[in-house]
Amino acid sequence: MSISIPRGTQDILPGEVELWQQIEAKAKELCGKYQYHEIRTPIFEQTELFLRGVGDTTDIVQKEMYTFEDRGGRSITLRPEGTAPVVRSYVEKKMFGNAGQPVKLYYLGPMFRYERPQAGRFRQFVQFGVEALGSSDPAIDVEVIALAMNLYKEMGLKKLKLVVNSLGDKDSRQAHRDALVKHFKPRIGEFCQDCQNRLEKNPLRILDCKQDRSHELMKTAPSILEYLNEESHAYFEKVKQYLTQLDLAFEVDANLVRGLDYYNHTTFEIMSDAEGFGAITTLCGGGRYNGLVEEIGGPNTAGIGFALSIERFIAALKAEGIELNVNEGIDCYLAALGDEAKDYTVGLLQQLRSAGYSAERDYLDRKIKAQFKAADRLKAKFVAILGDEELKNNKINVKNMATGEQTEIALDAFVQEFKKLQV
Ligand code: HAM
Repeated sequence: MSISIPRGTQDILPGEVELWQQIEAKAKELCGKYQYHEIRTPIFEQTELFLRGVGDTTDIVQKEMYTFEDRGGRSITLRPEGTAPVVRSYVEKKMFGNAGQPVKLYYLGPMFRYERPQAGRFRQFVQFGVEALGSSDPAIDVEVIALAMNLYKEMGLKKLKLVVNSLGDKDSRQAHRDALVKHFKPRIGEFCQDCQNRLEKNPLRILDCKQDRSHELMKTAPSILEYLNEESHAYFEKVKQYLTQLDLAFEVDANLVRGLDYYNHTTFEIMSDAEGFGAITTLCGGGRYNGLVEEIGGPNTAGIGFALSIERFIAALKAEGIELNVNEGIDCYLAALGDEAKDYTVGLLQQLRSAGYSAERDYLDRKIKAQFKAADRLKAKFVAILGDEELKNNKINVKNMATGEQTEIALDAFVQEFKKLQV
């Protein structure tokens, strides 16, 4: 039996990986401009972190975690998301005491969820995310949203939709919660078992249920926006004002509840509007989580962030037909004729690379014609041809592959002379 890749995972091979690298480089570049600094946390954490952080009535915790006991008998979980681990580190490393507040962090790495694999939904996927801890200024909510939007835009995406909502503060949520229980309770028997369990524990989750999505009570459910108290309302107004100030078009969707329990006030998602994108259109999700640091054992601290997966980013680029120039070609291919010349290219190759050029040679003892073919495949800008005869005469022939022009240069000054040929 042959061994195959696990369901819901993928190999990212050369040719495709360059696209990943470009997106990752752009994300890092933007984080530099916005002053978010990288944090790397472990791939696995104590299971308890996600029970408390993400919430034990969420789909993620109930159905999707890769949880196992390690050899020491501890319950360990492969991280399904990055926010709880960042907050765990923030508390453990006492970052709330840092001089520079708010603490602005970003991460890039694999997350794991045992979901039903389909287009845009993987069991291992790479999230890029940011978290800003220690500020409850609505301007930072908008900074975080703008960072995500700009990342997509700078990679060329145009068909984007930004959806925002507010879940309000604790009091607003409590009032809304009571209204939801009142709304669903009389007919909760018509809902799935999960929703029945959620009714008393966390009725907001019912709104996020994939199974009962089209039940008529879903459409008439009380909207959180009607339950926002004055403070929460004012906060949301400010967020919308700043979004408008930045020319970021948005829609308000009162049903945007998100799949994780830690949110309050601002929540948002960015979707792809591109035709043929497929059923799952959410590219990025995030929001404010003012109670989470306390929940994980730290002081009362505000927080906001988002995460997006590179997989869905790439799917959106493809849906919009955006081709990135991923293969730029190498600077020089060294073709050799004859044994001595071949030996000599070992050193020449090293000289070129040390001088900062990308360079390649033949390792399969190929004929000169096949070496030229290899140079073409690598999109070499120049091919330097060395034969035993040239070697004796301290010469080497360099062909500019774009113009066809050939120049003979001194072999013992090869790199300096090669430099002069660049335009
Ligand atoms: P989330 O909505 O669960 O939020 O995931 C964020 C993003 O991760 C999604 O919008 C999607 O792009 C991507 N994603 C999620 N699951 C999958 C999957 N199975 N396959 C491919 N991509 C996926 C969070 O994870 C929060 N931690 C976001 C956040 C950060 N909130 C505040 N700070």
